[in-house]
Amino acid sequence: MVTDKETELHYFPLLKDIAAGEKQHGIYIQAWADKTQDPELKACLSMVADREFSHHHIFKRRISELGHIWVEASEDPVLEERLRVNGSDMPDVEKARFAKDKMAQRPSPTTRERCQAAMSDETVDSLTRSLLAWFSDVEVDSNFHLGQSYDRLEANLG
Ligand SMILES: [Fe+2]
Repeated sequence: MVTDKETELHYFPLLKDIAAGEKQHGIYIQAWADKTQDPELKACLSMVADREFSHHHIFKRRISELGHIWVEASEDPVLEERLRVNGSDMPDVEKARFAKDKMAQRPSPTTRERCQAAMSDETVDSLTRSLLAWFSDVEVDSNFHLGQSYDRLEANLG
């Protein structure tokens, strides 16, 4: 008899990490969008937060399509820390520096690296691989737009 563990897809942890991470990102990015008085930054943050929430829903749906039940964690210390910063009255440029530091401190392999490995892994079903490819492209685009906004905040200081 096969146990649940043996039937679990080897890429399920990646899908679960994406679904959980995207929800977390959506919440703290939207908190910053709600707080900033800079309309251009607000538009960029809201666009990225919408994308993150959409990724959360799509990956959650894919997990269930693959026959898995995923229970979201009720506590999230990382989210609490990010919300403390993004929901505060700290200047936007400081929030941007904090976000860049966090990005630089990401543990390896990053989600992007894990996605790339799964995209070239033929034991991953093809629908999930194309979903990962689309997701990775959108994340690159979001990071590009965020980077431009962060650069503009720094430039405004000088
Ligand atoms: Fe994301």
